[in-house]
Amino acid sequence: MNPALTKIGAQMSHLTGVRAIMKDIIETLQAGAGKEFINLSAGNPLILPEVEQLWRDCTAQLLASSDYGEVVCRYGSSQGYAPLISAIASDFNRRYGLNLSDRNILITPGSQTLYFYAANAFGGYCLDGELRQIVLPLSPDYTGYGGVSLAPEALIAYKPALDIDAAAHRFKYRPDFSQLKINEETGCVIFSRPCNPTGNVLTDEEVKKIAALAAPYNVPVIIDSAYAPPFPALNFTEMSPVFGDNILHCMSLSKAGLPGERIGVAIGDEKLIQILESFQTNMCIHPSRYGQAIAALAINSGALAEISSNVIRPFYRQKFEVLESTLEQAMPDIPWFLHRGEGAIFAWLWLKDLPLTDWEFYQQLKQENVIVVPGSSFFPGLHEDWIHKQQCLRISLTASNEEIAVGMQRLAKVAEQVYAKSKVKS
Ligand SMILES: Cc1ncc(COP(=O)(O)O)c(C=O)c1O
Repeated sequence: MNPALTKIGAQMSHLTGVRAIMKDIIETLQAGAGKEFINLSAGNPLILPEVEQLWRDCTAQLLASSDYGEVVCRYGSSQGYAPLISAIASDFNRRYGLNLSDRNILITPGSQTLYFYAANAFGGYCLDGELRQIVLPLSPDYTGYGGVSLAPEALIAYKPALDIDAAAHRFKYRPDFSQLKINEETGCVIFSRPCNPTGNVLTDEEVKKIAALAAPYNVPVIIDSAYAPPFPALNFTEMSPVFGDNILHCMSLSKAGLPGERIGVAIGDEKLIQILESFQTNMCIHPSRYGQAIAALAINSGALAEISSNVIRPFYRQKFEVLESTLEQAMPDIPWFLHRGEGAIFAWLWLKDLPLTDWEFYQQLKQENVIVVPGSSFFPGLHEDWIHKQQCLRISLTASNEEIAVGMQRLAKVAEQVYAKSKVKS
């Protein structure tokens, strides 16, 4: 059957960004049955025994409690499961000296959903026909933002400034405030901190500056804290969550070991929370309550924050070190730059003057049985031509140390061949 699709139907039935590439990766893995691929493409966190045990223990506690029936056999409030909301409010109030009440928090089925609500509640066409932009102040950023707006033309991303340490083969993206426009045409601002794909952490000052630019226009600034402290605490550099009247601090429990349960959290001004809550009621009534109930137990006991900073963070930080030291030993004499590993579960490699596109490089690396993600899928909303978009790769840290080391050695070899060939030609 081939139904006629609406404009939105056509748009939403297309895969965007990295999801489209994942299809190629899955087909490659299936077609290469028997081949030993080193898959450094995944965004799925690894199952860490201590983390799995935490969720098992919380589940046992829930099963044994009289709350169980109330949790799974009844509908609940659209705002979320009350014990989880109060667990988050008291944890954040104590930890960050805030004054949150239950009305400042919304629980959603995963944080991707939250960005969908926010992108469409604040960005897109207004009643007067004006288009309100969804501004990504620093591109590259999370590829999932590419598919969230029902008016995709609303998404506008800004090219970053590059802070390059040539001798150390390192670099860092910074927001380019000389270009960034936040004004009456802006509907909302979104960025991830720590950032997927680059591992960048915007400084507290940069975040405050963005929020201050947006404040006079009543523009919500949505800070995607899927990798931030206190859970999953996947920051390898010091950072503090930034709160403020126009800031929606958004979290996810996916990287804290619960991606299957789909738990997203928004913390912010009561009015913003109410808008998103109504969106949620229309869309799905409320998120599943089982995951919320075990999350409440893990937050209240302090175990989630403790495991995040003592188990999850060191685990991925050490993977980044393996990647970094292998590249230092193995990379040929070419202009390669690794983004500073400040957090998240990925490394981001820039191959300056790469003689091929990132997609072609990805294909060549596949021939060596190593899979990474071509970087060009991580620039949603950045329409201008910029050669840099085709010179980067995202490398996942969700593999064994040995796989990461061997994968990087093979990548170095492919890079050497590719740059050597282009020299021969020129
Ligand atoms: C930066 C960022 N934001 C949001 C998400 C979506 O997370 P979830 O919907 O599982 O909460 C991800 C997932 O990888 C992510 O990397």
